[in-house]
Amino acid sequence: MPLINVIPGDKIPMAPMNVRLPAWRVPGWLLVLWWLARGLFRASVLAVRYWWLTAPAALALWVRAEFGGLVLAGVALAVAASCVGWWRLHPVSWLRFGWYPLVSRIRALVVYRRRWAAVMATCGLATAFAGDRYVPHLLKVRSDRFGDELTVRLLPGQIPDDWGQAAERLAYAFRRRSGQARSTDRPDRVVVRLVRRDPLAAVVAPLPVADVPDLGGLVLGVDEDGQPYRLRLAGSHVLIAGATGSGKGSVLWSLLRSLAGGIRSGLVEVWAFDPKGGMELAAGVPLFTRFAYDDPDSMAGVLEEAVKRMRLRAGRLRGVTRQHVPTPEDPLLVLVVDELAALTAYITDRKVRDRIKESLGLLLSQGRAVGVHVVAALQDPRKDVLPFRDLFPTRIGLRLTEPEQVDMVLGDAARDRGALCDRIPESSPGVGFVVLDGVREPVRVRFAYLTDDDIRQLGRDYRRLCDDTDQEVTP
Ligand SMILES: Nc1ncnc2c1ncn2[C@@H]1O[C@H](COP(=O)(O)OP(=O)(O)OP(=O)(O)O)[C@@H](O)[C@H]1O
Ligand SMILES: [Mg+2]
Repeated sequence: MPLINVIPGDKIPMAPMNVRLPAWRVPGWLLVLWWLARGLFRASVLAVRYWWLTAPAALALWVRAEFGGLVLAGVALAVAASCVGWWRLHPVSWLRFGWYPLVSRIRALVVYRRRWAAVMATCGLATAFAGDRYVPHLLKVRSDRFGDELTVRLLPGQIPDDWGQAAERLAYAFRRRSGQARSTDRPDRVVVRLVRRDPLAAVVAPLPVADVPDLGGLVLGVDEDGQPYRLRLAGSHVLIAGATGSGKGSVLWSLLRSLAGGIRSGLVEVWAFDPKGGMELAAGVPLFTRFAYDDPDSMAGVLEEAVKRMRLRAGRLRGVTRQHVPTPEDPLLVLVVDELAALTAYITDRKVRDRIKESLGLLLSQGRAVGVHVVAALQDPRKDVLPFRDLFPTRIGLRLTEPEQVDMVLGDAARDRGALCDRIPESSPGVGFVVLDGVREPVRVRFAYLTDDDIRQLGRDYRRLCDDTDQEVTP
């Protein structure tokens, strides 16, 4: 047998390596002992891990052996009765500390752990390297009324966005409606939420009005955890994008409602623009200092006045302060526009359109520090409003028709991180995605809905207290 292979045409000699391992002779009894020890160890680990199953089972066996089947049935009945009693007396603590922890454990065992490795592999989240399999570790399952939250340890090389992209696949793999992934405080973990029942299915009633609006956190709706969604208006402009019927009106009205206390006391002035003929905002006329609709020329005029006001204020504040603080003498100015594209794109008169565009550009780029804020609704983010879109620091994405529109509204990679605005059903108006300060993934919220009667009532209760003669309605 040749010891050295020489590949024809190659000058380097190749030596085959002998890697035969030495054979060990092990007696049969030692092997059986090893298997038994290993089995015992694994069983003990499982018994400790699933203590909530093994402990009651052991206890039941002991009661039965010691006192008989009848006593066991009595104990089981007593436990069941005390659970029912707890539920009836204090359902909140029962659900939190009794029911959902149990459901979480059962679901972790029956639904998730059973098929975990297979689902990880088919969803592209497991990998193989150097002959070893790497499967992300499922750390914890927490169930609630609406779904399950899985805490997972990331594999080296994975980032939360990978899970964001796979979240929908995971949801379907575990037979859930939808899924979303979010990062946590710990960089080695990700939380995947798989939704069984939509927590935002119900309409949100109008929220309470504060006498002095908190401009750092106006409450406009609720998030999936039932927590209030707070929008920061101070130092910002707000763009609300959504297809027709997606509920842009409810965002505008929720915002106006949250400002209503300030409107009544004169701390906030609202100038409303309703280029679609005044249909949406007309019911709130008592709240507005200026209300312009329909006629593009007059709307351009009102915008130019806002610019003039902004410049005067900037001149006054220069060298005094860097951020305007609203007072009744010098109130916050909020310009509410129901359809931005109707001001910037659909007007046929080019001169008027240019005037409007110039004023809007100035207000958006210079208004924030001097207490002039623009809140605008927009149907189609692709329309000719591109230069303005980037001047809105706060953006809200309601139902959109195309997946590409999501990133246009909420920023790059927002859809990959879970903002599925194009998947919001038509039957859920007022549901949308927002980006919160300090939270990487967009959060799903539902805005409060004000009926026409609520809006009229709001107008009656919070009409501006100052002299009505300074109100101007310009058709
Ligand atoms: N937050 C909400 N909760 C429940 N229902 C809502 C909500 N917002 C809107 N709706 C319902 O959806 C309908 C359409 O809403 P809205 O008029 O606000 O849509 P829009 O986005 O302004 O549409 P358009 O672009 O055509 O003006 C409303 O008549 C109302 O019935
Ligand atoms: Mg509307």
